Amino acid sequence: MKRETYECSELEVKLSNNLEGIAFVRMLVRRLLPPLDEVQEPLLLGALSEVVTNAIEEHVRIGSEAYIEVTLSLGPEPKITITDHGTGFEPELRPSTTHTGAGLGLIISKAVVPEMQITSGRQGTTVVFPYPEEAV
Ligand SMILES: Nc1ncnc2c1ncn2[C@@H]1O[C@H](COP(=O)(O)OP(=O)(O)OP(=O)(O)O)[C@@H](O)[C@H]1O
Ligand SMILES: [Mg+2]
Repeated sequence: MKRETYECSELEVKLSNNLEGIAFVRMLVRRLLPPLDEVQEPLLLGALSEVVTNAIEEHVRIGSEAYIEVTLSLGPEPKITITDHGTGFEPELRPSTTHTGAGLGLIISKAVVPEMQITSGRQGTTVVFPYPEEAV
């Protein structure tokens, strides 16, 4: 199939608080970032889904109608950045006792994508996934 090529170094999408956004982000990553092998792809997409889910849960929890911003950086060092506008948390990566979930989403995400970086404060949370280097 012939593909058009476009000059685009960064793509930002804004998600509202619904789970369809997760499927949309996964589709964009698979289509726009370099292909990963069959082991890496589900791990990265799984971790990404956990992080976007947390962002949505936080916005729902505080009743925020702000958008969650997901940026795909498509340049030579690709990365995916997820920013929410919640009230932040202490990203210690210990099982959570304060939430109804199992409290394992981030621990598992970090285990499978150790490059993941979390910055969190009262204005919100940003998680960066540098794209795996082994990407072909
Ligand atoms: N973006 C975020 N904003 C605010 N708090 C967050 C955010 N992400 C995670 N947290 C906090 O960190 C805790 C741990 O997150 P984690 O994803 O590991 O577990 P969980 O979401 O509680 O449960 P699970 O993911 O297993 O369903 C959450 O319960 C929440 O308190
Ligand atoms: Mg979670």
